[in-house]
Amino acid sequence: MIKPGHVKSYHIITFGCQMNAHDSEKLAGILQAKGYEATDDADTAGLVVFNTCCIRENAENRALGHLGYLKHIKAHRPGLVVAVGGCMPQMEEGHARLKKSGVVDIFFGTHNLHTFGELLDESLTTGKVDKILAEYDNSPETEVPTVREFAWKSGVNIMYGCNNFCSYCVVPYVRGRERSRKPADIIREVQNLAVDGVTEIMLLGQNVNSYLGTDDGCDSVDFPALLSYIARLKPGLERIRFMTSHPKDLSPELIKAIAEHKNICKHIHLPVQSGSDRVLSNMNRSYTRADYLSLIGDLRRSIQDIAITTDIIVGFPGETDEDFAETLNLCKEARFSGAFTFIYSKRSGTKAAEMPGEVPGEVANARFKVLTDLIHPMFLDYAKTFKGKVVGALAEKLENGIYTGRTESNHPIHFPAKQDGGGLLGKIVAVTVTQAKTFYLTGELVEEITDGN
Ligand code: 5AD
Ligand code: SF4
Repeated sequence: MIKPGHVKSYHIITFGCQMNAHDSEKLAGILQAKGYEATDDADTAGLVVFNTCCIRENAENRALGHLGYLKHIKAHRPGLVVAVGGCMPQMEEGHARLKKSGVVDIFFGTHNLHTFGELLDESLTTGKVDKILAEYDNSPETEVPTVREFAWKSGVNIMYGCNNFCSYCVVPYVRGRERSRKPADIIREVQNLAVDGVTEIMLLGQNVNSYLGTDDGCDSVDFPALLSYIARLKPGLERIRFMTSHPKDLSPELIKAIAEHKNICKHIHLPVQSGSDRVLSNMNRSYTRADYLSLIGDLRRSIQDIAITTDIIVGFPGETDEDFAETLNLCKEARFSGAFTFIYSKRSGTKAAEMPGEVPGEVANARFKVLTDLIHPMFLDYAKTFKGKVVGALAEKLENGIYTGRTESNHPIHFPAKQDGGGLLGKIVAVTVTQAKTFYLTGELVEEITDGN
């Protein structure tokens, strides 16, 4: 156990998406290779690293709030090293807001996370380090060691960056242009994870459907081909997920790949953002409401029981009551099993930030409530379809005699342990669903199953 205040102890605080969560595993890998040890306690750590998000203003505000708290600790313990990296300092405005806190020793961005070890060494000799690169200098990203947060599940980057420039979104500015990793590198990483006892992987990219990997001397490999190849690997993975899919690039080949392979989870996260064609066009999403609905029709016809989740933004500039009503109607038609809902957040540097027709805060808040009041009962209805059925659940956590896992549809599920002393962790087990709630299920263990889902 590491002693409180040990200079070589670190604590990482992560904000934002799965990509950031995986980047934090890389930061942990870099630090452990340098002899640092993890601690759960930010108050006593020698080094605190913030891996930040800037997709919405409240993500930035939360990071700034935490930094304010650290300022107080640093006043008593000046030896504390504070590093802030990732998306927020990558944007000028975010960087300036962070700088104002006066507590940060090391700034790094999204394009030089893999050199964090060197930046840390530099700061230990020179004091402050502030290095944000405008773009990645050596594509695709250099491999770094990772320390997994969970023994049995892992993210795997397949591509970085985004070319879509949805008008509200900062990601293309902070993560740069799309860069696909080589198929051989991805496959080697996946195989090593399988050998290392990993049960479930999540293939990660801002838009996995536009993956196009090339190896020297070979034809390029697209996402459905990569996914199918990974699904067939031996020794293989019991569960494969991927995130995020852009509806404009979701091909019939991908639908076929999901349908064909038992170990590809029958769940897709397919952000729709709005149900209004006018808003979708202003968002630069490159599909219409009809395209989206037809796509999910194809998914449902080809893949039995596929669970579809989405992201929805309300209060986009110029969104009228009629546009919003279209979003509500789309939700009624789409039968989502879950959704992340957001109030539009103006991000400077994006096209939408310059658009007229700002929706007043109280209107956006009211629409948000109407939307969630509509969709939450729909999620409950969806969850109820599992009642009495036996589902496969990957047991992820055991606390107070209760396991928490995830179903193939990505619903959290809680079920009491039998006298197994945690032996089911990391395994896919059969659970009879006894209760369905809006955001989770509860159940009773049936027996262990190991042949996938
Ligand atoms: N305001 C609100 N939500 C946003 N998202 C991205 N940018 C913004 C923004 N400026 C949402 C989108 C995206 C998800 C990851 O975050 O719904 O799919
Ligand atoms: Fe942002 Fe659009 Fe790229 Fe997703 S696809 S990261 S919403 S620009």
